[in-house]
Amino acid sequence: MRHRLPAAALAMTAALLLTGCGSDSGSGSAAELSVKGAYIPQPVSDTMAAGFLTVVNGGGTKDRLTSVTSAAARSVTLHETVGSSMEEVASLTVPAHGQLVFKSGGNHLMFEMLKRKPVQGETVTVELHFAASDPVEVEIPVESATYNPKTGH
Ligand code: CU
Repeated sequence: MRHRLPAAALAMTAALLLTGCGSDSGSGSAAELSVKGAYIPQPVSDTMAAGFLTVVNGGGTKDRLTSVTSAAARSVTLHETVGSSMEEVASLTVPAHGQLVFKSGGNHLMFEMLKRKPVQGETVTVELHFAASDPVEVEIPVESATYNPKTGH
């Protein structure tokens, strides 16, 4: 009877250690944000443009994109496409170990009251603001009006 107690205690300790380890490597690490694939198709309008990019989160905690600012436009808003119409949203989630994707026909950044029309070959600097992470500055290249990120033309 006596010699069985330490064995049981040991098994319990091992189980606790495993649980502790699992939760540390899971949701414990902070969000690690980076941006890829950013572009603005040269707009038709002088005052409005749409922008696209992907926010990548390499960390184990989700975050939220809460606003976008740019010296090039007086207003930058987050838009979601619902069916065939678009809606402004206050924030968008960047999932843990996931991506927040802005793409043609889906989520997009809406630049309004541009100081002047962005022309292909230029870049537009924006700052992405998040609920928890530090702001991320992105230089978004202006591409042709019909640019397709899959073909690069
Ligand atoms: Cu829109």
